[in-house]
Amino acid sequence: MSANFQRHRRLRTTAAMRNLIRETSLSANDFIYPLFAVEGENIKHEIDSMPGVYHYSLDRLEEEIEEIVNLGIQSIILFGVPNHKDECGSAAFDEEGIVQRATRKVKQWAPQLVTMADTCLCQFTDHGHCGMIHGDYVDNDSSLEVLVKTAVSQARAGADVIAPSNMMDGFVAAIREGLDEAGFINVPIMSYAVKYASQFYGPFRDAAHSTPQFGDRKTYQMDPANRREALREAASDVEEGADILMVKPAMAFMDIIREVRDNFDLPVASYNVSGEYSMIKAAAQRGWIDEKAITLELLTGLKRAGSDMILTYHAKDAARWLQELE
Ligand code: PBG
Repeated sequence: MSANFQRHRRLRTTAAMRNLIRETSLSANDFIYPLFAVEGENIKHEIDSMPGVYHYSLDRLEEEIEEIVNLGIQSIILFGVPNHKDECGSAAFDEEGIVQRATRKVKQWAPQLVTMADTCLCQFTDHGHCGMIHGDYVDNDSSLEVLVKTAVSQARAGADVIAPSNMMDGFVAAIREGLDEAGFINVPIMSYAVKYASQFYGPFRDAAHSTPQFGDRKTYQMDPANRREALREAASDVEEGADILMVKPAMAFMDIIREVRDNFDLPVASYNVSGEYSMIKAAAQRGWIDEKAITLELLTGLKRAGSDMILTYHAKDAARWLQELE
């Protein structure tokens, strides 16, 4: 019989054949691991809604950094949970702030680890918004000044990449200018270019104590229903001098990752956020899914969608599983 159809299954007959044919590969090089640094001593405290993710005080962070490096992960992004919050988020740009101190330590322990600093104010403001408040409005331009100060102080502490996440208009241009003036011409900006106002950030806000005390973030973060707007957001960040474009969240926005990949030449990062992580952990803990297989499938999917790199709380587990497969 030589029927007139294609035999796609010919290329799926053995594992070796499938390995040859595979279009997308995943490696520990692709991951950026988010870390939460807190004030205090001897703290390694698991975040309730994010099993396997911890708050670390600086004296306990070294063991974690060592593990990350040993797993072959090349990069981390640091979030800080300060003790002191005020209206203008002054702990965000304090040279002795938690992120600045953590950055200096990490660069001392692991100089080769690409250490990114999340540049935002919501963990540091008493109102929990990502910028300066005028009445009940989050003011754009006065927020930029504070963000620039924050970014420069992070670069001064040794941050290798500045990752502004606060979604004020013009933040890339302002931070680029500030970094250049301060002499940090070689510190790249990974812009949270396309960041949606998402419910998937819920567990992170528990972890970072950054829930807005009134209102929501919808006047600065994007409406999840919008695709064309994502291209406008990305285009303006490219024009302003971004070095890497990020899409966030990832799982429910894979079409957006693809759009950004297809429309721009810059490296694309996707942020597999806290709520996405917690859903997998919760289902796995109940024995409803195979955590390892599902996680690797998801991360491969994010790469296939166009991500060059993935910020993910699964990074350590995934790196371990990939080592086992080798
Ligand atoms: C700060 C920030 C948030 C996340 C990263 N940076 C929270 C937010 O915008 O409310 C979310 C990360 C996650 O959910 O894993 N602006």
